Amino acid sequence: ASSDILKGKKVVVTAGGTMERIDPVRYITNDSSGKMGFAIAKAAQALGADVHLIAGHTDEPPPQGISAEQVESAEEMYQAVLRVFDDSDIVIKSAAVADYRPAQVATSKIKKRGDTMTLELVKTTDILESLGQRKSSQYLIGFAAETDSLEQHAKDKLKRKNCDLIVANDVTAAGAGFGTDTNQVHIYDAEGLVLELPLMSKEEVARRLLLLAAERISGRSV
Ligand code: PMT
Repeated sequence: ASSDILKGKKVVVTAGGTMERIDPVRYITNDSSGKMGFAIAKAAQALGADVHLIAGHTDEPPPQGISAEQVESAEEMYQAVLRVFDDSDIVIKSAAVADYRPAQVATSKIKKRGDTMTLELVKTTDILESLGQRKSSQYLIGFAAETDSLEQHAKDKLKRKNCDLIVANDVTAAGAGFGTDTNQVHIYDAEGLVLELPLMSKEEVARRLLLLAAERISGRSV
């Protein structure tokens, strides 16, 4: 039955946005609400998986009844994922991770001074890329949030980050991307387009993605 298609599988899901601190009262973040990642965690559990959710900043608390931990920065999310990665079967990186963080975190509130101020940023670790290098039997699924050249950017990311699947969402399309209850995605593997889904609830996107992953890993010795 499809209700236990992921029975015995360990699924790790990241959700929400990371927060990169500037000083004790300010940080850099993004528009992720956590809805997509939460929907994936719930759908994986409904399909029988043993789910662990790693959530950054989200609009709502994580769903109840699922093992979950809260992190703040990209670095914390990276460490949390690394702790569970080797022992997992499927890892789904739906979190919106900051690409840059402040070079220095001020220990006291930065005072207002001149008319302009410059904040120096440094690159964060690309979590998905480092998992792509580390993976052995894990089935690795990335997301690509794009505003233009969706297909090209998604395929580039899939290759560069060594994912098994990448879920591309055009975050400028109505009803898709950040904050909405619905999403519209195209899913690619290394060969090309696998699944082109119309606008649907994030719950249904999650279910379709997991059914695809389950189909792909069955027959693989994991
Ligand atoms: O949370 P919601 O409001 O429901 O919105 C859902 C969503 C739009 C956030 C989600 O569908 C989505 O697209 N998530 C990925 C957002 C993102 O960071 O995309 P990206 O194209 O910048 O990154 C590509 C992939 O690399 C992602 O899987 C991301 O998690 C990963 N990444 C990026 C940077 C970094 N330093 N480490 C990473 O692991």
